[in-house]
Amino acid sequence: MNSELGRRDFMKAAAVGAAAATLPASSYGKVLGANDRIGVAFLGVGGRCQAHIGHVLRLQKENKGVAPVAVCDIWDGNKEVGRGLYYSAERCGLKADDAAHVVKDYRKLLDMKEVDVVCVASPDHWHAKMSIDGAAAGKDVYCEKPMTRTIEEAHAVVDAMKKYNRVMTVGVQSMANPVWRMAYEYITEGKIGHVAQAQTQYYRNSSMGQWRYYKLTKDMNPSTIDWDMFLGYKFNVNGVPLGPTPDKMPFDRAVYGQWRCYWPFGGGMFTDLFVHQTTHMIAAMGVRYPARVIGGGGIYLEYDGRDVPDVATVVADYDEGCQLIITATMINDHIIDEVIRGRLATLKFDRRDGKLGFEVLPQKLGGGPAVPKSAAGEKGEFISGGFTDAKDADTYALWENFITCVRGKNRDTLSTPELGAAAFTTVNLGVQSYRKGEVMFWDKEQRRGASGNGSWAAHWEKRSKDHGKPNEVIGYHGDAKGSELFPPDYQKLGGPWVNGKDPGEKV
Ligand SMILES: NC(=O)c1ccc[n+]([C@@H]2O[C@H](COP(=O)([O-])OP(=O)(O)OC[C@H]3O[C@@H](n4cnc5c(N)ncnc54)[C@H](O)[C@@H]3O)[C@@H](O)[C@H]2O)c1
Repeated sequence: MNSELGRRDFMKAAAVGAAAATLPASSYGKVLGANDRIGVAFLGVGGRCQAHIGHVLRLQKENKGVAPVAVCDIWDGNKEVGRGLYYSAERCGLKADDAAHVVKDYRKLLDMKEVDVVCVASPDHWHAKMSIDGAAAGKDVYCEKPMTRTIEEAHAVVDAMKKYNRVMTVGVQSMANPVWRMAYEYITEGKIGHVAQAQTQYYRNSSMGQWRYYKLTKDMNPSTIDWDMFLGYKFNVNGVPLGPTPDKMPFDRAVYGQWRCYWPFGGGMFTDLFVHQTTHMIAAMGVRYPARVIGGGGIYLEYDGRDVPDVATVVADYDEGCQLIITATMINDHIIDEVIRGRLATLKFDRRDGKLGFEVLPQKLGGGPAVPKSAAGEKGEFISGGFTDAKDADTYALWENFITCVRGKNRDTLSTPELGAAAFTTVNLGVQSYRKGEVMFWDKEQRRGASGNGSWAAHWEKRSKDHGKPNEVIGYHGDAKGSELFPPDYQKLGGPWVNGKDPGEKV
């Protein structure tokens, strides 16, 4: 396989978005030379950011021309729990009293010349604002998943990155694993035929209740935490405030430390967890925005004051003529396989010797009715992705790629905002469907969700009556073999009797 070609095709397919542009040097506030140091400022130095600090320190140690230069958090922090402002400053080699580089208001860092990159690892409701402000200030952006909290924000970020010509990586680390691009290439060559359906999962089971394992400490209080800045209600993206006012949401340690449990700050497992798998699955399948989405689920056990469900499933249908199911519970961690089903074969993603790859399980096209079969004993060729993602190696690889792209002024990162917005839209429409109790359509022109209706089913029924041809995924260049029906001869006996004439007369 020509991996370069694969990558190019993959990105071409992302025509649905990925404007893989090389930036004119003039678009940079500061033009980086090959040997210039790339200064990173960390915005929101909580749990996840500790990994990012570690990766940037490693890049620095390996003389990759990167260095941590500033940190921002609205909480003083705590050494024992290993998070927050002053603890993180120390890790980055900054002094707690260095008021220029160790701040509680991220805006102070945006004017700093030595900051080339902002790493946004705050809670979800701050992602869009920080990314857009960073881009407007001439910084490139590594932003954690989910890319934003709302669909409107995701598109505001896509627009801002284009407008300001900035390089952005959305922190879905699995995108650093080449296996998804390999699967995409395999699929678009027609090797599994028409893509019908894919399924993925993120099952967990926590005795404490999902996300309650983020420890609360007494020193999380209004004197150490800038609560207004956490809520974000004084800030907006396109006129929409980031969060609720303190009268709606008074200071509460559980809300601060376990914000994932509450709708104003995230989308529960729909956006927090499903977005990981959705991003790499849509990349592999060759689809981007869904046409129709349903979100199901409920809080079936975790009655601990949370807003977000502990059982949830998203069903996304695509114009390309396929479906993606993303499902999980937080109260039982028995998984389902991660697979992509085509007419001719199934790709089953799995690990062998610590390396993710996919097993190609061929289909036998049966003739008659069949009962559901067991997958036990199914075997096929295993194609390894060749990448060991042990010990957060995928996040490191994503950083390496991002830094290379920053230096090369190349917007074509391994996890572009265009891909991120499509994945986020899918899972967020799941939240909207779940909360509104409606099926959601995606309005491509307006770039927003809309209430669904019966037109989706009617569209496919008409296609069938018209004996139309199947649509294929983006970039598909296989032959028609995997998209055909083989009707038996007697099928010619079917059809409407017009004016009493037997359509099968000539048979
Ligand atoms: N890619 C992954 O595998 C992965 C894993 C965990 C978390 N994440 C993502 O990383 C982000 C952070 O998650 P976390 O688990 O570290 O949460 P966290 O609560 O531990 O950290 C968030 C930090 O942001 C700070 N903060 C809040 N508002 C801020 C503001 N206005 N300005 C500056 N700092 C602010 C908080 O004080 C806190 O220290 C989330 O978006 C989450 O989805 C990704």
